[in-house]
Amino acid sequence: RTRVLTGITTSGTPHLGNYVGAIRPAVAASLDANTESFYFLADYHALIKVQDPARVQRSTLEIAAAWLACGLDPAKVWFYRQSDVPETTELTWLLTCVAGKGLLNRAHAYKAAVDRNRVEQVDDDAGVTAGLFMYPVLMAADILLFNAHKVPVGRDQVQHIEMARDFGQRFNHLYGEHFTLPEAAIEEHVATLPGLDGRKMSKSYDNTIPLFAPREQLKKLIFAIKTDSRAPGEPKDTQESALFQLYQAFASADEVDAMRKAFADGIAWGDAKQQLFERIDRDVAPLREKYEALMAEPAKIEALLRDGARRLRETYAAPLMTTLRDSVGLRDLS
Ligand code: TYM
Repeated sequence: RTRVLTGITTSGTPHLGNYVGAIRPAVAASLDANTESFYFLADYHALIKVQDPARVQRSTLEIAAAWLACGLDPAKVWFYRQSDVPETTELTWLLTCVAGKGLLNRAHAYKAAVDRNRVEQVDDDAGVTAGLFMYPVLMAADILLFNAHKVPVGRDQVQHIEMARDFGQRFNHLYGEHFTLPEAAIEEHVATLPGLDGRKMSKSYDNTIPLFAPREQLKKLIFAIKTDSRAPGEPKDTQESALFQLYQAFASADEVDAMRKAFADGIAWGDAKQQLFERIDRDVAPLREKYEALMAEPAKIEALLRDGARRLRETYAAPLMTTLRDSVGLRDLS
């Protein structure tokens, strides 16, 4: 069976970008009997950005509930919290020792931090933790630990998958063929969802629309999406429009055609926003109800995550680590 693996960082509230780019396609793919799916909550990754323990815990619960509300079946899919599988960190070290520092210098997140520092004319590495620098190695460990074949992610994550291949390949070259080299799976029709300001929807830009915002808040946020100053009756441009792209991510082909025509006919922005709100709410409302019910029973979610990780460690992580320790010359722990 093809192994498909993906994770979401538990650094905030799940948003529409996570839903369209990760959760929705992953849940659909998990229904295929020829795949074995691994979906997890990346809480080790969260520590790179968030140093507020309550927020990490809250986010873990919210993102777990979001996956479940969107139809993930924990009986059919490996569903777990990254830190419940501590073999991940041990593998991170083995990979750290084969990872080229020069390659890590070129990682997007690190380079962005350096670029910001240059603009502010401070030291390149000011405020940069080794955790941020090592982000791609931790992510490679997530993937290689389970020999995933395919990693469905947004375009922003493709470079990380390429690095995972690179580290895996170097390790295999030195110590034998232990790792499957993963491939990024970008669903061509899944674009990067823009946020309120038109940039990529992202926790870092503070421009997100929470997936399960209460109805009134969802409406308020959608009405706050940035649009140009074209008046009602003036034709609107679909190309650069965040509103149109959001609509496209939820609507059917026919609905999108109708909206394109409405844009050309000069629909008022307020009317377009109302239609977008109704379209998103139609999909999200039934999920929101399930989400709220799940959030009322955190102990259930907790038990489910622990059980997933326990079985996963027994089945895959622990045996692989035993083999890997032996292959690099470390003592057998058993
Ligand atoms: P994260 O938490 O930033 O995002 C989780 C997933 O959501 C997708 N995504 C988006 N898709 C479309 N439009 C957007 N605006 C948008 N924002 C986020 C991301 O592409 C991603 O698929 N490093 C990862 C988490 C991770 C991981 C892994 C993923 C850790 N280990 C191993 C795959 C395999 C991250 O921070 O994703």
